[in-house]
Amino acid sequence: MPAPRLLAVSDLHVRHPENRAVVESLRPDDDGDWLIVAGDVGERVDDVIGTLALLRERFAAVIWAPGNHELWTRKKDPVALRGEDRYRHLVRAVQDHGVLTPEDPFPTWTGPGGPAVVAPLFLLYDYSFLPDGTATPAEGLAAACRAGVVCTDEHLLAPDPWPDRAAWCAARVAYSRERLDACAPDLPTVLVGHWPLTRLPTRVLRYPEFSLWCGTTATADWHVRYRAAAVVYGHLHIPRETWEDGVRFVEVSLGYPREWRARGLPDPLLRTVLPAP
Ligand SMILES: [Fe+2]
Ligand SMILES: [Fe+2]
Repeated sequence: MPAPRLLAVSDLHVRHPENRAVVESLRPDDDGDWLIVAGDVGERVDDVIGTLALLRERFAAVIWAPGNHELWTRKKDPVALRGEDRYRHLVRAVQDHGVLTPEDPFPTWTGPGGPAVVAPLFLLYDYSFLPDGTATPAEGLAAACRAGVVCTDEHLLAPDPWPDRAAWCAARVAYSRERLDACAPDLPTVLVGHWPLTRLPTRVLRYPEFSLWCGTTATADWHVRYRAAAVVYGHLHIPRETWEDGVRFVEVSLGYPREWRARGLPDPLLRTVLPAP
């Protein structure tokens, strides 16, 4: 008999028809399964809302944190909102479908492997994951430029009304710390975000300079500080598990068709977060 599980996936990138077909095939094994969706559902607002609404019809709970692609403002999208306004619009729209966001009270998983507070976080990045040999974000960005590695976010992810993405990141870190500090101190957490919470997972990037767009050193100890039973992230398109300080970090991405066609779909695509395998 199946038992309820806390499952996770990310980087569905439904703009690609092959990925959309994969998403349409996703179903729970048990009526009580919860699904974490850790960002990069897509770029168009209607794609993001439609996909999360579909998943919410199937899973007992859907918990979403945005990725960079949700926050891109592209000319092709009829919704031209930028930055914070775009984020708030998405939050309200998916909340209307019963999806939990970083702006909702954190739910507690009480199924097998619980209880644990599931905390979706929107943290962004602040260019502090510096490429080796550089000492400041400006030096890091110059090195990335020289290597020909510049994340599309630089052109499409508007930080409005913040002066830049690092300032937006600082505000999100402060907000998220306050929320996590207020959690019951006797309960473990599952920390969920699009970008990795620590630097370690970025050490296997093919283009090491890309780490600039992958997180912030401000969260380096959060897995310990907030009693994480697991940390869930995506963004790197390198599905795998690592361990730090006895905590399991799970990269749960699907990725682009050209990536998963070559290596096969992640097996299983929906990673079990709890109960711990
Ligand atoms: Fe992605
Ligand atoms: Fe991403």
